[in-house]
Parts: sequence; C-alpha cells; structure tokens
Amino acid sequence: MASVPVSGTTGRWKVLVTRKLPGNCLSDLDGLADLEVWEGNGPMPREVLMERLPDHDALICLVSDKVDREVILSAPRLKAIANFGVGYDNIDVGFASEKGIPVFNTPDVLTEATADLAFALILATARRLGEAERFIRRGDPWTWSPDLFLGRDVWGAALGVVGAGKIGRALLRRGRGFGMKLFYTDTKGRPDLERETGAEFVSLDDLLSRSDIVSLNVPLTVSTRHLIGERELSSMKEGSILVNTSRGPVLDEAALVKALRRGRPVAAGLDVYENEPVVLPDLLGLDNVVLLPHIGSATVNARGAMGRLAAGAIAGSIRGERPKNTVNPAVFGPEKGAGPL
Ligand code: DGY
Repeated sequence: MASVPVSGTTGRWKVLVTRKLPGNCLSDLDGLADLEVWEGNGPMPREVLMERLPDHDALICLVSDKVDREVILSAPRLKAIANFGVGYDNIDVGFASEKGIPVFNTPDVLTEATADLAFALILATARRLGEAERFIRRGDPWTWSPDLFLGRDVWGAALGVVGAGKIGRALLRRGRGFGMKLFYTDTKGRPDLERETGAEFVSLDDLLSRSDIVSLNVPLTVSTRHLIGERELSSMKEGSILVNTSRGPVLDEAALVKALRRGRPVAAGLDVYENEPVVLPDLLGLDNVVLLPHIGSATVNARGAMGRLAAGAIAGSIRGERPKNTVNPAVFGPEKGAGPL
C-alpha cells in the first residue's frame, strides 16, 4: 500500500481511498486532508479496509467495495463516505445515517457516458457485433454473403426503458434520434419527459410485451432485485433484445440463461452481473449475448469528473458544508432558516 504523507499530527482529516483514481482528480483535497490510497492490484481487500479504516475520518470507495454495518462499526472516527459511482447499493446508507455519517455519490457527470454505453450495447446486441468480431478474429474464410450475421433493426424499433432516472431519460433522447417508438415505466409518470421525448408511460408488463428493445436503468433496491425474472422474460416480444447497464441483481441471471436458450429474448447485452465480477459460465457459452466488464461510465472525462465530485464532497464536509450530492441529507438536520418540518 502506498501512502501520501500521513502525519497524524496535523489535525487534518485522514482520508482512505480504496483505489488509485485517474489523473489528479482528488486535488481538491490537497492541503486539506492526508490521503492514504490503496495501490494494490484490484480492489482493496476487505480485511485491509477493516484494518485501515478505524484510523481515518473519511472514506472514498468504489461500487466494488462493500461498506456494510460491520465496516462502518469498525471506524469510530468516520465522518463521511464518498462513493466513486452514482449507484450506492454497495453502502449500508441506512446504517450510515443512524451513525450520522453523510454518504455522497457522483450523479450527473456520468449520465451521458453511461447512456452512450447502453446505446452502444443496444447496437452491438441487435447487430451481433460481438459474434461478428469473434468470427473475423478466428480467421475463418469468408466472403460477403446475403445472410451473414443478420441482425435486428435499431432504427425505428420500439425502445422500452425501465426506470426514467437521469440515465434512462438520456437513453430515451438517443432513441428519439433513431426514430424509435418510445416506452418507459417507473414508479409514476413523468409528464416533462413525455413532452420532451414523446415517450409513453406504460406498466412493466405492457413495456415488455410491446418493446423490441428493453433497457434496464433502475437503481438496485429491495424492490428492484430480480425485477426481471422468468415470468417477465417470457412475456417479452418475439425477436426482442434486453440490455442491462444498471446493476446485475436487477435481472435473474439463471432465468436469463434459460430464456436466451429458448430464444426469447433473442439476444441480451450485459454490462453488469449478479455476482460481479463473476460471470456465469453459462452466459460465457452463449453466442447471443454481448458481455462487457461494467464500463458504463468508463470515459476519461466521466471518471475524472466522478473523482472530482467525490473529493469535492469530502472537502465540503471538512469545511462544514452540506454537499449537494449527499444521498442521505437528513443527517445534516434542517437547513438554517428552514421552516418547521
Ligand atoms: C455507477 O456509477 O454506479 C457505475 O455503475 C459505476 O461506474
């Protein structure tokens, strides 16, 4: 483990960072805090996190770090947690709130990058790019042929977006540019989105039976775990495709394997997995699935901005501010000047 000076005598906050982040995106903390950055290969092992965290005032962690009750309890000095990611299902936010610890995430800055990736996965899946690329690399002899890798049309198809948060909305806007018929489902209708994109608010069942392409864009919560299972998959339209760039457990992967073998959906594109980073061997054996290693927000700009947002939130905490990207703002109590609750 490499450490940037940790004096322990400056009175400055000590911040534990569970992975080396791109560029100098944590520079907001220069002069404000002492950083200790895990520079090992891969994620910081849980035992190292548990050993180091008690000595720190703040944590900058990743979606691959499980920050549960046990981890939080191990760190009596902990005053802030910033997640390098918009989804924060890896953190026990309820327990952090009980302990009065604000939790920050990185919204907005990765919306367009992640929507781009979701659309790339739609194109790759519908047009069988993974299979076609593997075919070329195998070096098999080929000539142009009328039925080589026939795929599905994306232009003009019906796109159903499950979850009209920022990324879902950004995907619907892309769909508009592709002349698509647009459906979305969410906990309630969003008239502004309908005005902007012409998308129609429908139930999940309706969306599944009417869409040629279904994209999952919900956060992982108790109510979205296995939102799409055997029943939902079998109600998808014939010839349809499914794309998941949200969180793996939103989709029952074992049910997906069976469904893909039956050919409904006809193909799937996945950026996230139920037991990440493990990918079901059965999925690896299927040709009608495009598999990516959770790279939704992986652009130079998005990842730099995510780091700056995480660091900015910790810097704000040190200065006694209430950073805007707090997912549990109730920990700060009522704003000064706010009326009775
Ligand atoms: C997120 O931000 O939640 C992504 O999945 C991690 O890049």
